[in-house]
Amino acid sequence: MILIQEHPLVGQLVNAIGAEHVLRAPDLMAAYVVDWTGRYCGDALCVVRPGTVEQVSSILHTCNIAGVGVVPQGGNTGLVGGSVPAPGSGAVVLSLTRLNSMGPVDPVTGQVSVGAGVTLAALNAHAKAAGWVFGVDLAARDSATIGGMVATNAGGIHVVGNGMMRKQVLGIEAVLATGEVIRSMSGLAKNNTGYDLTQLLCGSEGTLGVITEVSLQLIRPRDTELIIAGCDSVEAALMIASRFAGRLAAAEIMDRGGIDSVSRVTGITVPFPTPFHVLVEVTGGVSADSLEDLEHVTLAMDARDRENYWALRERITEAMAVECTGVSHKLDISVPLADLDTVYREITTYLDQPGVRDVVLFGHLMDGNFHVFFTTDTDGSHEEALDIAVLELVAAHGGSISAEHGVGHMKADHLHLSRSAGEISAMRGIKAALDPKGILNPGVLFTH
Ligand code: FAD
Ligand code: MLT
Ligand code: ZN
Repeated sequence: MILIQEHPLVGQLVNAIGAEHVLRAPDLMAAYVVDWTGRYCGDALCVVRPGTVEQVSSILHTCNIAGVGVVPQGGNTGLVGGSVPAPGSGAVVLSLTRLNSMGPVDPVTGQVSVGAGVTLAALNAHAKAAGWVFGVDLAARDSATIGGMVATNAGGIHVVGNGMMRKQVLGIEAVLATGEVIRSMSGLAKNNTGYDLTQLLCGSEGTLGVITEVSLQLIRPRDTELIIAGCDSVEAALMIASRFAGRLAAAEIMDRGGIDSVSRVTGITVPFPTPFHVLVEVTGGVSADSLEDLEHVTLAMDARDRENYWALRERITEAMAVECTGVSHKLDISVPLADLDTVYREITTYLDQPGVRDVVLFGHLMDGNFHVFFTTDTDGSHEEALDIAVLELVAAHGGSISAEHGVGHMKADHLHLSRSAGEISAMRGIKAALDPKGILNPGVLFTH
């Protein structure tokens, strides 16, 4: 029998956190090395599941000395390949899911500190039990973790009302590549004493430090009305949502392909025969006359309506995964609102070509954020050229190649389309300062 020569690092990691939480067997590692979309599948030296910040520190210190890559992982629901190791990387996947403790909600300030491995759903339940709610929500709520959401600066359906993840973050405890722990969890409303390391780590996608605990600002729940309307263009959808500007809790758009796919998969009836549907959640009440000029519009009358209307939007990703064959392409772009209608037309016109199927655009309307989905038969260089052409089209409108999902491995080659050479150089300088051996999430954000 040929004994696989264990990498000496594995023994050190077992000593650090115990054999039970160091996975080596391929079948035990399988779920940790393939991403949610299935498009990114790598291999790991091992998977480690620390239970304390001290264990995270010891793991990073050991890997840094050994010069072995570390891929931080939360719920593994990321959509740009950032949560799994690259093929042949031999990296260690560091799962934060065991860091799932939650502190008490401060009844006066609405602040709460939670472990990085706490899921969004668990936080929501914890906040609700204390009479508060969390400002960011997204369909992956049952698996996505707070640490992952901070690391990707997640967006979701309430950005128009509450901002992105970074706006909810008050403080962070994290471990740097050397194993050093930094902690800014004072909860102070004001603390102007140098660089804001908390905000620097928001959106850093596991490349600057491993987040172990987060201090969050919760908000008071607000009564809202949910409107679903049908319309003929993106421009018309913007006009409908804009009439509630300043009172919007959510404003989402679905084109015909996406909403029909959800209807086929779930059996939920599509309300209107129009090319687009817009879902608008409004605080402060909705007067009948504010909708009387719309031919296709209805208010959610009860919880079931709300559930169905949100399913028509939130289950598009799932429905496309169920119905579509071939290679799935998922882009997450944003452009200035004034360009949104034009960009929709340019993208759909460009993708109307042989070999491209299932073109669906949907997303967060008032964030100027479209999720672009389509399928091709193969996954070759021609097909990647389709993605690049769409990203170049977006960049030509001053848009972003990644609105909310991050860069990951998927868009590292195209960062220049949204960031200047000077910015990329400055970001590389920060990366080199905090992770001089480049062990944190190699290949994510920067190609080398
Ligand atoms: P993972 O996928 O595990 O990791 C994501 C990135 O964060 C990786 O680079 C990883 O290295 C890093 N990371 C994870 N944990 C840590 C940590 N503790 N410290 C440092 N780095 C860490 N995203 C949106 O923004 N808006 C949406 O509306 C949205 N909807 C979604 C719907 C579905 C059905 C799915 C599957 C995904 C959706 N996402 C959305 C994408 C995804 O849920 C978010 O990116 C989420 O923030 C990822 O959290 P996670 O815990 O799964 O992180
Ligand atoms: C969404 O808004 O549904 C998500 O970002 C998921 C996706 O883009 O597929
Ligand atoms: Zn989204």
